[in-house]
Amino acid sequence: MDKLIIEGGRRLTGRVKVSGSKNAALSILVATLLVKGKTKLYNLPRIGDVWTMLEMLNKLGVKVKLEEDFAEIDANEIESYEAPYELVKKMRASFNVLGSILVRCGRARVPLPGGCDIGTRPVDFHLKGLQAMGAEIRMEHGYIEAYADKLRGADIYLDFPSVGATCHLATAASLAEGTTYIRNAAEEPEIHDLFNFLNQAGADIKYIDSRVIEIKGVEKLRETSYEIMPDRMEAGTFMIAAAATEGDVLIEGIDPVYLKPVIEKLRETGCEVLEMENAVRVIGKRPIKPVNIVTLPHPGFPTDMQQPFTALLMIADGTSMVTETIYDSRFKYLSELARMGADVKVEGRTAVIKGVKELTGAPVVISDLRAGAALVIAALMARGVSEITGLENLDRGYENLEGKLASLGASIKRVAEESRECLV
Ligand code: EPU
Repeated sequence: MDKLIIEGGRRLTGRVKVSGSKNAALSILVATLLVKGKTKLYNLPRIGDVWTMLEMLNKLGVKVKLEEDFAEIDANEIESYEAPYELVKKMRASFNVLGSILVRCGRARVPLPGGCDIGTRPVDFHLKGLQAMGAEIRMEHGYIEAYADKLRGADIYLDFPSVGATCHLATAASLAEGTTYIRNAAEEPEIHDLFNFLNQAGADIKYIDSRVIEIKGVEKLRETSYEIMPDRMEAGTFMIAAAATEGDVLIEGIDPVYLKPVIEKLRETGCEVLEMENAVRVIGKRPIKPVNIVTLPHPGFPTDMQQPFTALLMIADGTSMVTETIYDSRFKYLSELARMGADVKVEGRTAVIKGVKELTGAPVVISDLRAGAALVIAALMARGVSEITGLENLDRGYENLEGKLASLGASIKRVAEESRECLV
């Protein structure tokens, strides 16, 4: 097993380019199942979750060709209506193939999902929505079985603006008979990217009001080429890392509008943030002022930035409060940060963080993707050396994170557990 060895205390400086968005890529890959023919996708990030989704498509009989700068997905034939358990247990987003398989094959068998360990994460909204569209759903032996000759338009209300349910249901509804409305829908930028892709392939989807989507079912989707949007969470991670190391980093290839909540909170800590056309520059300042954060659905502060931002607040000059409202258990990584000297207590859904003078390097384990980002940021600002294991979680969502950080001046190296390679 690999580990990352980071020697903290180096300022990050320079420029870094953001890769394609994980969450947009995953939902678009699911949607390619509806295209009876070829889809070309550019800017697909080279990360674990994308490999898992491509393997899933492959297992369903879809032909996948990876070229230097694009992937070609040929879903002319779908040979299996069953999604393998080994893949769905690894990644929750792969559950969303249920609707697309159902539309293409008239039936689908998909196991209940696993994924990052950050809360209970049920799929009831997904199932209620598909039922409203006329699917017959059964749950047996840990699998969902769904049947429908043809889905029909429905008026769906989500109890919570779930990203996954919005993508899943809108995708399935794009080929339903009649018009579907999704109310209290999510409106994250990655969902807009999915809809841009689907509309380019011939679907008819639009927001008709805040959180209300209208999907007019069409007969079929056509072959198309599409470039996936940049990853705002990767960009946000570099922004926070720049602030944490008192660095000066230009993050290129991202529209600052996607990062407003992170930009505003970084400014509150005292950092200088310059918004440019398709780039953001972060100049870290000391002392870091404490701030309070509440995670919310978009356009609120994104839960995926809660963990990395909390790492930064560990060395703030005072007490910060971070409230997590999206997931019921996204604070597990705090015990690892405590091993690096952080002073933090969790009260219900709020973490109370008393800033300390410094963190010190320690061996720590990554429990989920964004916990990985948080621990890397903590290690970059800590005194001494940290050894980080559990990298499979980090690799799910970051493309060449250590290479990009090293190019900004970080002392970071990935080594095989038994190797004795020196630090860069
Ligand atoms: N929920 C339900 N029932 C459902 C669906 C969701 O109760 O049927 C609850 C969840 O348990 C959770 C809340 O609703 O408490 C929000 O979940 P949502 O469905 O919005 O999350 P998701 O679609 O599973 C996506 C991202 C996550 C990101 C969330 C919130 C993908 C592949 N994943 O997950 O990304 O945290 O939206 O923005 O798009 C990450 O990148 O680190 C990550 C976890």
